[in-house]
Amino acid sequence: MITRLLHKEEPFIYDLLLLADETLEAINKYITDSEIYGAEIDHKLVGIYALYELNKDEIEIKNIAVLEDFQGKGIGTFLLKDAIEKSKQKRYKTIIIGTAETSTYQLKLYQQIGFQIFGIKKDFFLENYTEPIFENGILLKDMIMLKMEL
Ligand code: ACO
Repeated sequence: MITRLLHKEEPFIYDLLLLADETLEAINKYITDSEIYGAEIDHKLVGIYALYELNKDEIEIKNIAVLEDFQGKGIGTFLLKDAIEKSKQKRYKTIIIGTAETSTYQLKLYQQIGFQIFGIKKDFFLENYTEPIFENGILLKDMIMLKMEL
């Protein structure tokens, strides 16, 4: 499997982005300035990630998603490793990813790959979304931030 840089007008991109982020409004805050990479199986887009430059040294994975039917097959791990490799090639020093405090599976996955928690964005979900978001029955408030030195 390989990834390719996607054009933002390609179909199905938003279907995937919306798996990882609740609203188009939130996605539109970072998507214009992001590079989106996708992985395909039999010409079907099954996974995606968005890389967003924070500054010349730091880059953030703002969105990563795998189609539901294809989850749990290693594609998410592959995409994370691909994002790390591409960020290294682009000579960034640090790669960052954030997720909700309730997202235990995502937190496990990111730490398994080598990301380490370095901070919390307090009230991120309360301040950046107009409607309350519940995950695993819990109101989302804070974003857990993880990073990896490249
Ligand atoms: N429950 C618990 N563990 C699981 C599940 C599950 N449903 N699915 C996979 N796993 C485990 C796997 O067993 C594996 O662990 P292991 O190596 O110890 O066996 C690990 O999680 C990684 O599995 P992958 O198959 O590589 O990951 P996947 O292809 O499912 O992709 C992803 C992970 C991207 C989080 C995917 O599940 C997804 O799209 N979820 C919905 C969107 C989302 O939450 N995105 C992240 C939001 S944060 C952000 O975007 C920055």
